[in-house]
Amino acid sequence: MSDESGDGTEVELEARLEEQDRFEPPESFVEGANVTDEAIYEEFEENWPECWERAADLLSWDEAHDTVLEDGDAPFYEWFTGGELNASYNCLDRHVEDGRKNQAAIKWEGELGETRTYTYGDLLNEVEAFAAALRELGVEEDDVVTLYMPMIPELPIAMLACARIGAPHSVVFAGFSADALATRMNSADSEYLVTCDGYYRRGDALNHKEKADKGLRGVDHDVQTVVVDRLGDELTHFLGNDAHDYDDLVDAHEGATVEPVSRDAEDMLFLMYTSGTTGEPKGVKHTTGGYLSYAAWTSHAVLDVKPEDTYWCAADIGWITGHSYIVYGPLALGTTTMMYEGTPDYPERDRLWELIEKNRVDIFYTAPTAIRSFMKWGEEYPAGHDLSSLRLLGTVGEPINPRAWKWYYKHIGGEECPIVDTWWQTETGGMMITTLPGINTMKPGSAGPPLPGIDAQVVDVEGTPVDPGDAGYLTVQNPWPGMLRTLYDNDDRFLTEYWQEYSDPDAVNRQLTTPHSTESREDADEWVYFPEDGATIDEDGFVTVLGRVDDVINVSGHRLGTMEIESAIVGVPGVAEAAVVGGDHEVKGQAVYAYVILEDGQEPTDDLRERIVDGVEDGIGPIARPEQVVFTPELPKTRSGKIMRRLLEDIASGDELGDTSTLRNPGVVDDIAEQVETD
Ligand code: WTA
Repeated sequence: MSDESGDGTEVELEARLEEQDRFEPPESFVEGANVTDEAIYEEFEENWPECWERAADLLSWDEAHDTVLEDGDAPFYEWFTGGELNASYNCLDRHVEDGRKNQAAIKWEGELGETRTYTYGDLLNEVEAFAAALRELGVEEDDVVTLYMPMIPELPIAMLACARIGAPHSVVFAGFSADALATRMNSADSEYLVTCDGYYRRGDALNHKEKADKGLRGVDHDVQTVVVDRLGDELTHFLGNDAHDYDDLVDAHEGATVEPVSRDAEDMLFLMYTSGTTGEPKGVKHTTGGYLSYAAWTSHAVLDVKPEDTYWCAADIGWITGHSYIVYGPLALGTTTMMYEGTPDYPERDRLWELIEKNRVDIFYTAPTAIRSFMKWGEEYPAGHDLSSLRLLGTVGEPINPRAWKWYYKHIGGEECPIVDTWWQTETGGMMITTLPGINTMKPGSAGPPLPGIDAQVVDVEGTPVDPGDAGYLTVQNPWPGMLRTLYDNDDRFLTEYWQEYSDPDAVNRQLTTPHSTESREDADEWVYFPEDGATIDEDGFVTVLGRVDDVINVSGHRLGTMEIESAIVGVPGVAEAAVVGGDHEVKGQAVYAYVILEDGQEPTDDLRERIVDGVEDGIGPIARPEQVVFTPELPKTRSGKIMRRLLEDIASGDELGDTSTLRNPGVVDDIAEQVETD
């Protein structure tokens, strides 16, 4: 695929690639793409909101909807109202009924190399058996079932079993700590937990059950637990009195028929907790009709998924990307979706490329942080494998720098695959801003235009669209089917966090930061969704996302609230105050920097530093682990006493320091900067 390095043509090619800032989708791709007519943009605009019927039509409904969009109680929008459907029916039964029961639905590979393939027929059988078991345990429609599992097939099976009986799931990322599990179970009043004994990481058997048990001790109500035996004899676990063994349950219900429950389009399909500005994670509510339609539509239009494909999204199902683009979107379209349990560099740094070659993967979707690691490891790893089965590449989770984009394009895609850089969020349910791979020119570094039917605009503080090239706030001015409906049990927070009231669209005093409550809602004419990202837009309407404008940082594509990390740190004995910011990091995008003030008389020792790091791992998980803990007697504060986070960010990123003249204690800045190591 790549020429010898040092060869003249190769050098010329490199130089050309480096300068090139626009790329056309290859003819070979366009010819077979799902969506190729650019009239789709106009069609959606002219026929909005009915255009979204196109998404709903990708599903099988028990009852057709009466209304596409119900906006009477905005921004509590409702989609496809009157419609009824079941998500597991759409992801399983209908494909079996279509005569495709022997097609692979999930191809799984464990870290040590064992493989499992579930056909649509197998998957349906196991989902029905587990659904029957959940019912027997007492799970009723609308009960929230928490799933705390790594990348093993039982996770999507449990999700679909919940969907089958109308019980919303709440998946907690397996890398999150026991405390994080407890917080989420308490918040959702979840009385059921499905977890596992452990899993492999870099060849070691990790004990997951211990963490789950510890979490359960922090849950304030009774819980019934099901434990999947992932590790067999490798790790013996103690089930305990209240826990059930997954295999026993499934065996006992083998052959069970569980009719899929007809769910109202607006009924909750799942809850997904995510980080926000305050310490408490937010329970994002997604629905059955709108979410599933949107996941299916974007998988079809953007990822170009076809039933005969082998498709691989290398995310974790514990995040929204895995929900929408490992499980629901691909399975709704009846494709083969891959799952890999382990890390990309185990046993060698070519594990992913080996998997692509072995399974002849057609579509590959990953995060920029992973691509930056691959770049660092070197092109020899992909070059050793035949990646010619690939047709399309995608990225998600954070901005991708043009150098990483081009590396991906050349060394993974062989310059023959379009790349979709997809901007979206837990809250949006699916992709919002990206090129359509069969239509648009690609510009590395810029996600692209908003998808058809998505009215995304970049505006200034007053809500006026900015000029091309100027930075502003990203907004979405129209609702869309995959949007969150509310935050679990917290309509007020939903309003204040995401929506801005534009009661008079022409007024200049529209403050994007003015919160409002449910009471003032009646006056609003127009509602605008505010994702808390900064962006620029160019003459062609391509959006470049700059990053968060709130106190959320993005570490390796994982969204973390600085307040959550701060509260874990101040929980460590000896710590008086902490400020956490994100600093630039070559591979992770951003890394966690913690500035810590100690209590009087407390010595700044390495031991204490370690306890602080442990405190963060216990409170949230290893993903939030601080890159550096800096002890300081003071934090830089303005005269009004506000911590100047911007300065702390500059220090962490090794940037030139911004203005310090408004500080009450300017001297402290140099003292802190001296301690920080940046690369
Ligand atoms: C960021 C992940 C730039 C953004 C699906 C957003 C991106 C947050 C991109 C959501 C992208 C996601 N380019 N930034 N292509 N995709 N982001 O909820 O800041 O985990 O607000 O959802 O990730 O993170 P979340």
